[in-house]
Amino acid sequence: MYPATGFSNGHRHQPAGTFMDKRLGSGRRERARSRATRAGPRDSRDPDQRCDQKPPPCTDFDVAYFNSYAHVGIHEEMIKVVVDVGCGTGILSIFCAQAGAKRVYAVDASDIAVQANEVVKANNLSDTVIVLHGRVEDVEINEEVDVIISEWMGYMLLYESMLGSVICARDRWLKPGGLILPSNATLYMAPVTHPDRYSDSIDFWRNVYGIDMSAMLPLAKQCAFEEPSVETIAGENVLTWPHAVKHVDCYRVTLHELESVSTRYRFKSMMRAPLHGFAFWFDVEFNGPAISPASNHVTATFAESSNDQPMDYSQRKKRPNPNEALVLSTAPEDPPTHWQQTLIYFYEPIPVEQDQLIEGSVTLSQSKENPRFMNIHLEYTSGGRSFVKESVMR
Ligand SMILES: C[S@@+](CC[C@H](N)C(=O)[O-])C[C@H]1O[C@@H](n2cnc3c(N)ncnc32)[C@H](O)[C@@H]1O
Repeated sequence: MYPATGFSNGHRHQPAGTFMDKRLGSGRRERARSRATRAGPRDSRDPDQRCDQKPPPCTDFDVAYFNSYAHVGIHEEMIKVVVDVGCGTGILSIFCAQAGAKRVYAVDASDIAVQANEVVKANNLSDTVIVLHGRVEDVEINEEVDVIISEWMGYMLLYESMLGSVICARDRWLKPGGLILPSNATLYMAPVTHPDRYSDSIDFWRNVYGIDMSAMLPLAKQCAFEEPSVETIAGENVLTWPHAVKHVDCYRVTLHELESVSTRYRFKSMMRAPLHGFAFWFDVEFNGPAISPASNHVTATFAESSNDQPMDYSQRKKRPNPNEALVLSTAPEDPPTHWQQTLIYFYEPIPVEQDQLIEGSVTLSQSKENPRFMNIHLEYTSGGRSFVKESVMR
């Protein structure tokens, strides 16, 4: 599901110190560098530099340096306790330790935890990063934590159902006012046209070396389009502004609300094209609890927009101040990521005219058979014809 390599977008895995630095601005990066070097010179001073000698004058650089330490934030940053939910190889835990965390609990139920422990040792961080090999639901941590980090997002955001483990960690260990990164997420959907993809999968069978093999078409359509398809599409494939299917506020989300997510949508096609299905993608934001948008408000705003031009979506793309929140987007118009987009294709395309309505509903629910699978119930109506498509993402 989540390959350890292939981070093709430049949003993830920022260099050390990223999550703190992004929140606190570039001045903090300067301070972090100063911090990294301060112990050495103090211990190895040459006798001429000792304080019993006349000290050198305080320069403007010194003043700026000492002012940077006057802010309580930097002292806080150095004493944070962090939990990394699903640490994998431990990379995010190590970033946290390098950013100044006092202690990091790196938790993973998979045997990759053994390697994570080795990686931590090789980087001389065993005093700071404690690898716990077990489920977040089962391991014991005997203190409250200031920060929870996790890379929990699956295809279509909710596939893999790992967010439940973040909720568990939050409810077990997060201090009041603590930070969860990423802090909120939004799943989007939009109607798409993709003639090349349809043709590659289906039209081949119409005529194979002069032989009419169209009897194969129903089976070919079933094989190609029965299940959701994870692939990269371009912005040009998307026929309208997207609709927000679900907003997740990680500070407030409950396990119960993730069991089944339903929404009604209403799109107006921006062009004449064959409609081949719907694409789903998500973005996540890195905010503190204070500026995390209230989930009800955002959902309502998106729902009312009925997508002629959703206010919030365009605003999210044009943040006046990029330091306000770091956003990782997996949208078709943004640089590709390993999450790509998830496509649900129709068995038959529907021709749509410009401004034609495409409406219906979608329900995403955890499979009873295996809660990590996702059942997708899609209803759609356009040009007076209605359809239902059921699929399972396994
Ligand atoms: C998508 S990987 C992320 C790995 C790492 N954080 C990274 O960014 O490279 C998810 C990891 O979470 C672990 N995981 C999922 N659910 C878990 C749970 N309930 N308890 C512990 N680990 C879990 C998986 O074993 C997997 O290693």
